[in-house]
Order: sequence, then structure tokens, then C-alpha cells
Amino acid sequence: RAAALARVEGLIRDIPDFPKPGILFKDITPLLGDAEGFRLSIELLADAIEGPGPEYIVGTESRGFIFGAALAFHLGAGFIPVRKPGKLPADVHSCEYQLEYGTDALEVHRDALHRGARTLIVDDLLATGGTARATGDLLRRLGAELLGYSFVIELTFLNARQQMTDAPVMSLIRY
Ligand code: PRP
Ligand code: MG
Repeated sequence: RAAALARVEGLIRDIPDFPKPGILFKDITPLLGDAEGFRLSIELLADAIEGPGPEYIVGTESRGFIFGAALAFHLGAGFIPVRKPGKLPADVHSCEYQLEYGTDALEVHRDALHRGARTLIVDDLLATGGTARATGDLLRRLGAELLGYSFVIELTFLNARQQMTDAPVMSLIRY
């Protein structure tokens, strides 16, 4: 496991001053492009799941789709997309969340799952936690059981984890 984690970490690239001066961007595209690294990242996310497995993986547009869909396939679970506004065609629940400047919203289909369904939220990165908390809110409104949040990368200095008390938070790599 330590070797696999080191392999994955070695495929995450630092891009200074993106998207703005002073921000050190964690670029996952080298990891995605490396067949073994990408596979290891999905296996590590799967290995970290404890107890009864999720019936659904919930992934947030757009980078959450990449890891979420692959993990769902690996686990034999369904995949539920949480999308930016106006993309889902049927009736939706909508949740606003804070960005650094202003707000954005996320949506999920109201009929995406049955009440009590076991769900796991997956995304590439936990930064401020705004995206993850909005996704968790949407699942609560659907009456889902939230088993946890799983991330490839966690920026621990932003302390998002402290505000996510509704379900366990797991991350593979922490900065
Ligand atoms: C990034 C990342 C996470 C989120 C983390 O997504 O993929 O979803 O930010 O930040 P937070 O914890 O502060 O909410 P982004 O909104 O840049 O969109 P993308 O996934 O479409 O690239
Ligand atoms: Mg994202």
C-alpha cells in the first residue's frame, strides 16, 4: 500500500500560480494518463472503504466523474452524477455553495436513488469543502445514507474536514 500511494503521489504535478498568482495547483492529469497509476488510485480508494459497501458512488462534476465512475465500475456500484446547474434534464434538487468570489450551485436528480440507499461521495480534491458539503446536502435531501467522503487529495491546511461531521472523511494523499 505504501508503494502504491507513493506511485500515485509521484504522478500528481504541482503547477505554480494557476489559476491565479500564489495558488499551487495540484494537477492530476499525469496520474490519469498513467494506466498503472490510475488503476492504483482506484484500488486504493476501494481498499479504504470499511463495512458494507456503497450501492451508489456519487461524483461531482467534473473531476469527481473521473474517479467516481471508475470506482463505481470497480466496486459494481451505480454512479450518480451531481452536476452544475442546468445540465440535468429531469426534476432536481439544487444546493448553492460558496466560492472564493460569489456562489455556484450543484444539482442532482430527485429520483436518482431510493431512500436509505448507501452512498459514498467521491472527488479528486478536498480544498475548502464547499463542493463536498453541497453534495452531502443534496444526498440528505434525497434521504440517502451517506457512508462517507473519499478524496484522492486533501489540502489539510484549509481545515475542511473539521466542518464535515456528518460522515467519515477519507483521503489518500494530504498536503
Ligand atoms: C475542484 C475540485 C473539487 C473542488 C474542491 O473542482 O475538483 O471538486 O474544486 O474545492 P472545494 O473543496 O474548495 O470546494 P472545480 O470546482 O474546480 O471544478 P472541476 O471539477 O470541474 O474542475
Ligand atoms: Mg471538482
